[in-house]
Order: sequence, then structure tokens, then C-alpha cells
Amino acid sequence: MSMSMPPHAFPFSSITKNSDEGKQERANMTLVFDRYKDRLITLPKEKGWITENLYMYQGFWHQSMRRISVETVMALQETFKAHPSDVYLATLPKSGTTWLKALVFAIVNRNRYKNNNSFSAHPLLHSSPHDCLPFIETEVFKNTPTYNVDSDSPRLFATHIPYTSLPKSIIDCGCNIIYLCRNPKDVLVSMFHFANKLRDESSCSPMTFNDTFELFSKGVMPTGPYWDHVKGYYKVSLEHPKNVLFLTYEALRKDTANNVKRLAEFLGFPFTEEEEAEDEVQKVIGLCSFEHLREVNKSGDLREGIPNDAFFREGKVGDWTNHFTNEMSQTIDYITEQKFHGLNISTFSRN
Ligand code: A3P
Repeated sequence: MSMSMPPHAFPFSSITKNSDEGKQERANMTLVFDRYKDRLITLPKEKGWITENLYMYQGFWHQSMRRISVETVMALQETFKAHPSDVYLATLPKSGTTWLKALVFAIVNRNRYKNNNSFSAHPLLHSSPHDCLPFIETEVFKNTPTYNVDSDSPRLFATHIPYTSLPKSIIDCGCNIIYLCRNPKDVLVSMFHFANKLRDESSCSPMTFNDTFELFSKGVMPTGPYWDHVKGYYKVSLEHPKNVLFLTYEALRKDTANNVKRLAEFLGFPFTEEEEAEDEVQKVIGLCSFEHLREVNKSGDLREGIPNDAFFREGKVGDWTNHFTNEMSQTIDYITEQKFHGLNISTFSRN
């Protein structure tokens, strides 16, 4: 096992070491991690996928000492103030977050970055969707998090936090939430590859697909159990359909155009007839396509030190068939049927 730490292994390593902003962020991270260290040691622990351990907090597993971590959830629960016009994109890791971020950012800002009827000045031509539309979790450590700044409506944020652990003000202020869900088997495969790339080798031994399958089936993955995360948002989408839009990666892949139009309407930025005639929907889809984003993000790192290209692997529906045995597939189908019993969200589980 290599003892040299990859650049993304340490939560502080990512921030430009010598910049004032970087120093301040490192200091803020230390303060936040320190503030919750007594609570952390009381939490149940399990083996982590990327970091050594995951911690159970309010029924879900979280990493610690990371930007997206249990400490961040606690800090946001204490301090975060949502605006009623905000939009939150909620996902489990590896469900298509990067794609959804790109689509929502591109839809809402489609006129802002237009130059001679083309997107030649668009941020998605040179920046990661994660830089265009931040996670509330990664903003916590900034001196001036964007969520404390008033800006043009709607403010767009993403989160992996389970519905029941969201900061109260997001739930209370009735803002809009878009949830993107993906077939659990493809989430597991995607997470397996992602974790292999990012695993903190100084504290974690390599994991086989079997190891991650066992953990996933027990519900142990960052912000899992998978089924509880999905169910939380699904139920609230039934209770508040005007505020919570529930989409699947599979449907978005199968009929991207209609789902992009649906997203645009939900966001309050519907495509006009004129725009449709000018193929604006297809232009947005092209800008956010897997092929285009993978090309733009083939180099560079996010602030948190994760290589941009780690978010673009296959981009397919059903890659699980290349990893699962029949028995594994049946096990996940069985758990999904049990957990989603009585809910109409199991349609993709056998895909
Ligand atoms: P695979 O590992 O199956 O290829 P997240 O953004 O939530 O981390 O999810 C990453 C998954 O979404 C990866 O799945 C990645 O390839 C896929 N993905 C990223 N960008 C995409 C896009 N523009 N269109 C479709 N899938 C995309």
C-alpha cells in the first residue's frame, strides 16, 4: 500500500496553500471540525469508502473531516438561512449530480451568457458544473459563503444532505427542491469506481467490488442508506409536488429534451415557442452532454482537490450488468422491493 498521500487525500490539501483565502479556509475548517469533535466520538462508526470511517448521524452515514461531512451537516443545521426563492438540487453521490447542476445552471442562465446567439462565453465551456453551482456543504468553510449573499433570484445550490437532516430553514421556507435519483445498482458501481480513485490510501485499505457491495447492501455509503435517502425526498415530492420535483437519471437519459423542458418549467424559466423553434433546448442539452463536459473537465481539480475528470466515467444506464453477479442483482432487487414497498419508485430497479 502506498504511503504517499494523493493530493485529494487530505481535506486541506486542496486549497491553494499560500493564498490568504486558502489559509482562512483552512482555519475555518479547523474551527468547524473542532467544534463538533465531542459529538463525533459519540456517533456509531462503520468502514468508509473513501475515508477511513463513516459516522451515523440522524439515521444516515457521513464522512468526517471533509468538506462534505457530518460536521458540515451539523454546522449548516445551526446556521443556514434559506430564501424562499432558492432552488436546491438534492442527490445521493453518483446519481448524476454533476449533470443536473450543469442542466439547471444552463437553463436558468441561458440568456445571460449568450453572445451572438451562441454560448461562446458560457462558464460551462471552461469550468466544472461544481464551480458553477456549489454544494451548500462546501460553502460552509468560506469567509463569505455565497448562501449569505443576496443575489439574483433564484439562488441555486446543491446538497447531498438527506431530507430529514436538511437545515430547518430550507424545509420551512417552502423553497423549491429538485431530487435526482438513479438505479441503486448503477449508483453502487459508480461509487465503487469513484472511491477507488479518491480513497485515502494512508488510512484505508483497497476495497473490492464485493466489499463495497456488502457495505452498500447494509446501507453504508456516504449519505446512505441509498433507499432511505431516496424515500425521504420521494415522499415529500408527493406531499408537495409544486415544490419538490422528483426525477430519475434513467428518464433524463431516455428523454432528455422533455425532461429538460420539465425542469425549465419547474424552475420558472420555461422555453418559449420561439426558443423551441430555434433549437434552444438542444443547445442546452449539448452544452451539458456527457461528451462535452468530459472534454472540458479532462484536467484540473476542484477546490476540494478532487480531479475534475473523476465525475465523468461512463455516463450510461445499466453499467451494473458489467459488475454484478445474478445473486448480487437479486439481493439489491429484493432490498429495493422491501424498502420501496407501496411506493411507485421501484420502476428502475430492474433496469
Ligand atoms: P458513471 O460512474 O456511471 O459513469 P455525480 O455527478 O452524482 O457524482 O454522478 C456521477 C455519474 O454521473 C457518473 O456515472 C458520471 O459518468 C455521470 N455523469 C456525469 N456527467 C454526466 C452527463 N453530462 N450526462 C450523463 N451522465 C453524466
